[in-house]
Amino acid sequence: MHTIAAAALLATAHALQLPWKPAAVAAPPSAPAAIAADDHRRAVIGGHNWLTHAPPSYFARDKLTVKGPRANTDVGAPVDATRPLVKLGDVAVGSWSCSEGGWLSPAPRTSTEWFIMLEGEGSVDEEDGTRHRFAAGDVVVLPRGWSGRWDVQKDLHKVWAVHTHADDGRSTSPVIATPSQMSDGDIYKAGDTAVRVWTRQPGPVEVRDKATTESIYVLSGEMFVTNQDGSAVRCVAGDTVALPRGWTGRYDVASAVKAVSVVVGKETTSAAAPAPSHAGGKRRPIVGGNWKCNPATASSLDELCRNFDGVAPYLDKCDVYVCPSNLHVALVKDNFTPGIHVAPQNCNFKGCGAYTGEMSVDQIQDLGLGWVLIGHSERRGEFGLPTPAESNQLMATKLQYILDQGLNCVFCIGEPLSIRQKGIQAVLAECADQLTDIVPILRQLSDKSRVVIAYEPVWAIGTGEAATPEQAQETHKGIRDWIAANVDRATADAIRIQYGGSANAGNAPELSSFPDIDGFLVGGASLKPEIADIVKAIAEAKV
Ligand code: 13P
Repeated sequence: MHTIAAAALLATAHALQLPWKPAAVAAPPSAPAAIAADDHRRAVIGGHNWLTHAPPSYFARDKLTVKGPRANTDVGAPVDATRPLVKLGDVAVGSWSCSEGGWLSPAPRTSTEWFIMLEGEGSVDEEDGTRHRFAAGDVVVLPRGWSGRWDVQKDLHKVWAVHTHADDGRSTSPVIATPSQMSDGDIYKAGDTAVRVWTRQPGPVEVRDKATTESIYVLSGEMFVTNQDGSAVRCVAGDTVALPRGWTGRYDVASAVKAVSVVVGKETTSAAAPAPSHAGGKRRPIVGGNWKCNPATASSLDELCRNFDGVAPYLDKCDVYVCPSNLHVALVKDNFTPGIHVAPQNCNFKGCGAYTGEMSVDQIQDLGLGWVLIGHSERRGEFGLPTPAESNQLMATKLQYILDQGLNCVFCIGEPLSIRQKGIQAVLAECADQLTDIVPILRQLSDKSRVVIAYEPVWAIGTGEAATPEQAQETHKGIRDWIAANVDRATADAIRIQYGGSANAGNAPELSSFPDIDGFLVGGASLKPEIADIVKAIAEAKV
């Protein structure tokens, strides 16, 4: 496979020499759209010990082999075709297509199948008649033991992975995740099979003696995957990569990669599956820039985006998001260093429809965005105008809607000066009041990194008078203790709490040194190049 890999990578061959030079890797990324048309790339079949890689052309429909008449057909005359890619122990990977029709699959499955729909529409029924429909872009899991019927409503084509394993008593009901549900975390987990979505930020990841067999389908981004002998492949959207248990090699992510993968085996904290943000008791720091209602002219946007270029070296250690004004979100969303998230400053509570002046999660996701900020004090009645304040109850409704739709959320809280003047107990009582309605939501949330609390004392916002590090730490710890008592300890340990209110490059290093401060929500200073120093401060403090 070594020569095949080299030939397939002529354009970037210089970047594939070891010792690796991350700077060289970061340089060549080209648009995934251009790659998708790049049909000369061939599959690299590795098998045991080596990576296996297939570009979309390997699974093109005319490359699949027709299987012959289907048994049990009772609707139409479906013709199906398949192409295997690789078999790694008890995991096989390949592609399948099928034209319209339906049939009974009465024999319980002896393996768990996962697939991602590339095209078409179909459904599987359970024996009690419960129908599970899926369409292009969906990920489907058919667990071991499922039996029922298959129907293809519209010619379909999929990439699959099948894990053959003993009966472990798992549920036999199919599980489906739509594209809007593909935010980082497990879609399915039973026994030692997990189907998960992960995002890996630019930078290298070394893998030694991989604990699991993993079949990866790349949704977006660009990375190079290298075997221990230096042979490598470039992976972009639409590619399939299979890595066997025991594999040693590395990933070099050129632009943030989002993928859905099937992980089989007993997991250790392997680099192949990115650790959750709180792995080992550590929370991954997070910094947001809230541009509020700035700038006045669209022509200034480019300069503001460029202020964020300096955060690139820290993106492997720190999450970074920017909240442009709603009018500017679509204008800037592709103008940041890859890996920086764009998060609108608000969204509605329901979806599209007759909601004048509002934005829905569907619209946010359609722009390819994964985060949204809600509950800023300036929307909770602190404009100083008789505008209706957004209530705690409304915040909880919005948060539930946001998470159900698969988006992640920054949830702002904070007290006005009159409460701070009464002392820390009054402050914590006010924070508790703002969090009480979301307790059941936090309890149910499996991936606690999907909600970030931004604690922003109103009296510190835009005043140049930040909370002292001791005040901020005391309040963050108080919030965390309250969450431990009212949600649970695991949530309290994992959830990230940002400080906001006149955070800047000068005060960020000291604030960052306190254990319960996990990052910053920055207003004024996020409109200046110093935002990079703020990110640097927290990234370096939390290593
Ligand atoms: P300043 O950093 O300008 O005080 O703003 C903080 C804030 O409100 C961020 O949301």
